[in-house]
Amino acid sequence: MEQLILDSKTWLLVLTGAGVSAESGVPTFRGMDGLWENHPIEDVASPQGFGKDPTLVWRFYSQRRAGAAAVHPNPGHDALVAWERHLGDRFLLATQNVDGLHRRAGSNRVVEMHGNLFKTRCSMCKRAPFDDTTVYPVGTVPTCDACGGRLRPHIVWFGEYLDPADMQRIEDFALRGSTSGGRFIFLAAGTSGLVYPAAGIVDHVRAAGGETWLVNLDPAQNSNRFENTITGKSGEVLPKLAKLG
Ligand code: OAD
Repeated sequence: MEQLILDSKTWLLVLTGAGVSAESGVPTFRGMDGLWENHPIEDVASPQGFGKDPTLVWRFYSQRRAGAAAVHPNPGHDALVAWERHLGDRFLLATQNVDGLHRRAGSNRVVEMHGNLFKTRCSMCKRAPFDDTTVYPVGTVPTCDACGGRLRPHIVWFGEYLDPADMQRIEDFALRGSTSGGRFIFLAAGTSGLVYPAAGIVDHVRAAGGETWLVNLDPAQNSNRFENTITGKSGEVLPKLAKLG
């Protein structure tokens, strides 16, 4: 297998998707038995779905909370922790995953682009998102202590914007990496390459002169835009991929 050399001149931006948590037992979204097979996106992952049936939405996210709380990080998560320890501020992890497993594994330089399953916010007032591990009983919709409005999961739903501060952090890192005079690498793992803006990062990195790698079990929608692709499970490939120099 090709090796990724991570030395003192390397800047590494990693993007992860649901595939990285699959070996921990967290279901992915698309494909056979994927979450979107049984739960249509528009019902449980859009502001319209929440407006129509908030109890269904809370049932879905409460189940996912319970599921994510019961599993553990896998060797793919651990490899990323080791890379971050080695590279320090020359490493950034952008994740589409909301299960919190990267932080539980020990990753610190993490941008959770699509939110966090263990945070809740008010759908009405400006109260800041807060930590919330509650698995709400089926049929209930929690309400805000401050304004009485409906609480909602702190997830970026379809049709909603990502936090501009998160995008800025990724762009700033890419700019610093690509102008560092060193080697700027982008590696995506376990993501189908269908959801933007995450799926477009590869193009920005190539335009900026960066090197691109993909580790995925199946071909991704944007596979052909990566220079290096490795087919396999992230929990098996990532721990062997890097040589820390
Ligand atoms: P998907 O479910 O679309 O894709 C998961 C990808 O991981 C697939 O391409 C699989 O082949 C691959 N895969 C599965 N197991 C793997 C393993 N063990 N190792 C490596 N790869 C593996 O998930 P995402 O790409 O993360 O958004 O989906 C992107 C976004 O769309 C999600 O964040 C979510 C979803 O709808 C929101 O909920 C806002």
